[in-house]
Amino acid sequence: MTEEAKRFIQGHTDVRPAIGLVLGSGLGAFADELTARTDIPYAEIPGWPHSTAVGHAGKLIIGKLGELDVAVMAGRAHLYEGYGMQQVTYGVRVLHGIGARSMVFTNAAGGINLTLERGGLVLISDHINLQGGNPLVGPNDESLGPRFPDMSEAYSRVYRDTAKRVAVELCIPLSEGVYAAMLGPSYETPAEIRYLRAIGADVVGMSTVPEVIVANHMGMKVLGISCVTNMAAGILPQRIHHEEVLETGAMVRDTLVKFLKALLPRLEA
Ligand code: HPA
Repeated sequence: MTEEAKRFIQGHTDVRPAIGLVLGSGLGAFADELTARTDIPYAEIPGWPHSTAVGHAGKLIIGKLGELDVAVMAGRAHLYEGYGMQQVTYGVRVLHGIGARSMVFTNAAGGINLTLERGGLVLISDHINLQGGNPLVGPNDESLGPRFPDMSEAYSRVYRDTAKRVAVELCIPLSEGVYAAMLGPSYETPAEIRYLRAIGADVVGMSTVPEVIVANHMGMKVLGISCVTNMAAGILPQRIHHEEVLETGAMVRDTLVKFLKALLPRLEA
């Protein structure tokens, strides 16, 4: 299936991106930075699930960031929409198919660690998969990767070090922490947030982890950045609204764009 998508995309552009970027809820602004761009709505790409979530543009944008060729997924499919593990990881498989060997994932997340603040950026150092499934379940395609892939450095240390250096250079505050992935779509209960804190999670979201597993399986280098769009349930005396998540995304857009613009060219293959 990914073969057809690959041919379709390569029929639309001569750009051959070595790096892929996924923009999460409310974080789509970066796409405007690309030049010589080709926009391909997900709905047109064979086999590509098209997201229904509010705040997700739903297109693949291939273009140039300066000299660098990049493939940007503006919007992603989520398990909570009813998509399966194969569907939510389809985009990463296709990007690998068209030549990407590095992936940068962004997402909106709730802050669990009490030192975090709404609007802050968190470099993902590791994750905890609580989504109840794994995209690699089923027959293994040995041509893509091993049956039992190692996950001891799922988020490249070299990339994290580079990200920290770039953040310092740009005076962008950047925390580092563990991302816990929940199925959603309901936000967590305060008791679940206390549990997640106890098991070592710093931020919580509903995406990214299946994509990171598949990327690691195929030997891609991964960087993950969470935007703390809200403090997690029970921390503040207020309810969590999707609107707050999107509003915070809009608040941090300029910072995130500036960060990604400086960072992507510095991530070596
Ligand atoms: N929980 C889960 N996912 C999220 C949150 C949250 O608080 N905020 C943004 N995505």
